[in-house]
Amino acid sequence: MHDKTESMTSSSVDDGAQPQKRTSSFDASAFIARNLRLLPVPVLENIRLHTAHSGSRLSRLGGADPEAPAPYWAYGWAGGAVLARHVAENPHLVHGRRVLDLGTGSGIVAIIAARAGATSVVAADIDGNAIAAARLNAAANDVELDLIHADLLDGPPPAVDIVLAGDLFYDEALAKRALTFLEACRAAGIDVLIGDPYRVPLPTEKLRCIAEYSVPDFGLGSDGGEVRAGVFSLAGS
Ligand SMILES: C[S@@+](CC[C@H](N)C(=O)[O-])C[C@H]1O[C@@H](n2cnc3c(N)ncnc32)[C@H](O)[C@@H]1O
Repeated sequence: MHDKTESMTSSSVDDGAQPQKRTSSFDASAFIARNLRLLPVPVLENIRLHTAHSGSRLSRLGGADPEAPAPYWAYGWAGGAVLARHVAENPHLVHGRRVLDLGTGSGIVAIIAARAGATSVVAADIDGNAIAAARLNAAANDVELDLIHADLLDGPPPAVDIVLAGDLFYDEALAKRALTFLEACRAAGIDVLIGDPYRVPLPTEKLRCIAEYSVPDFGLGSDGGEVRAGVFSLAGS
C-alpha cells in the first residue's frame, strides 16, 4: 500500500506476539473465529465481518514464514467499501448475474453482491487465510460464495458477467497484471468495476470514474478516518 500499510507484513500489524512455526494441522478458520471480532462494517451496518483488534495476535497466522502474506482480509479497505456501497445502492449491477470478486480479502464485496441477488458469486484470493476469513464471513452474513484460492490473473477471462475488484491496485506490479486481466475480461464482454481511493498505482488514465463516496480506510488508521474513493469502469467501455 502507498500509505501507512506500505510495509505491512503479517508480523508488523499487530501486537508483537512472536511468530510460531505453523504445523499442517494449524486451523486458520478456528484462529480467526477465536481471535477476531465479528463487527458491523461502518458504511454497511447490515454486514458483519471478522475484524482485527489490538489483541488479535495476527502475527501468529504467518508462522515463521517471512513471505507470509499480509492479513489484508482482517481490515476495512476504502476500495472494497466504496465498491460494496455502490453495489448495495445499485443492486441491478449484479442482480441475476454471475459475479467474480477478484482479491476478495474479507469477502465484503462478494457478500454484498450475493445479498444484492447475484445468481452466483466467485470470490478469489491468493491468500489462503483470506479464503478462510471470507468463508466465515459469508456464513456470518448468511450468503453462499464459491471460494477460490488461486491467482486468476494469468488465466483466461472467467465465465462470469461482471468482475468486481476492490482495492487491488495497491502495488505497481500487481496493478499492471490486474489491468491486463481486466481489459481481457472487458474485451470478452464481461463488465468490470473497480473500487479504489486513488492509490498511486491506480491507472486513472485507463479508467472512467462513475461514482465517488467518502468511506473509511484502514490506511488512514483504525479510528475511522475517511477518504474520497471512486468506483471505476474501464475507459472506452
Ligand atoms: C487490499 S486487499 C482488499 C480486499 C478486499 N477486496 C477489500 O477491498 O476489502 C487486496 C486483496 O487482494 C489479494 N490479492 C493480491 N494479489 C492477488 C491476485 N493476483 N489474485 C487475487 N487476489 C489477490 C490480497 O491477498 C488481498 O486479500
